[in-house]
Amino acid sequence: MKKVLHIISSPKVSGSFSNKLAIEIIERLLIANPGSKVITQDLTNPAFPHFEQAHIDGFYKPPELHTDIEKNALIPSNEAIKKIMDADIIVISAPMYSFTIPSTLKAWFDHISRVGVTFRYTDHGPEGLIKNKKVYVAISTGGVYSDGLAKANDFTEPYLRTILNFIGMTDVKFFRAEGMANINLQETGFQKAVDSIDLS
Ligand SMILES: Cc1cc2nc3c(=O)[nH]c(=O)nc-3n(C[C@H](O)[C@H](O)[C@H](O)COP(=O)(O)O)c2cc1C
Repeated sequence: MKKVLHIISSPKVSGSFSNKLAIEIIERLLIANPGSKVITQDLTNPAFPHFEQAHIDGFYKPPELHTDIEKNALIPSNEAIKKIMDADIIVISAPMYSFTIPSTLKAWFDHISRVGVTFRYTDHGPEGLIKNKKVYVAISTGGVYSDGLAKANDFTEPYLRTILNFIGMTDVKFFRAEGMANINLQETGFQKAVDSIDLS
């Protein structure tokens, strides 16, 4: 039995390919781990907050010095980090927006990348502190980026790998539904993504 955390970042209420692919992953996880519990965090509803002054001030102060405003500002960060720490497996739905991830997903990473909490600096460089998680990422893109010249324009997978590794999540697998904006590629592109799912 595992605890699975599903992070949603597409604002589409229906017809989201990143969510559809994530659900395929989660269905397989539930078959492989009967009795598992899935918790969903939708970063779009309500919108996960973007950084303001109080978040930055709160991040770099010890808790005993936090003002009420800073304490309040840190609630989304504290809650998001707790959800991750409580989970065994994290499934992230990530559409490509403007060649990278949606700003709400980026805001979530800003809130969970916290010095002294989810990473620390050591004599050997930075060390991620979110250990022993399995992460599966369901990326959906309008075009095709896994091959050819467009590969250099994909700032989803390289960014996600870097930031996840930075905070300690090094066991990460990516599955890509590509060509979702092309009616001729949509069906086969999505099926290819489903067929590529490998939970090992
Ligand atoms: C605001 C916006 C920006 C987008 N930018 C890109 C892009 O840079 N490259 C691309 O291939 N597709 C782009 N797309 C298409 C989406 O990646 C594609 O529709 C994907 O399926 C969205 O995921 P979703 O279905 O889970 O919402 C964009 C879509 C939107 C709405």
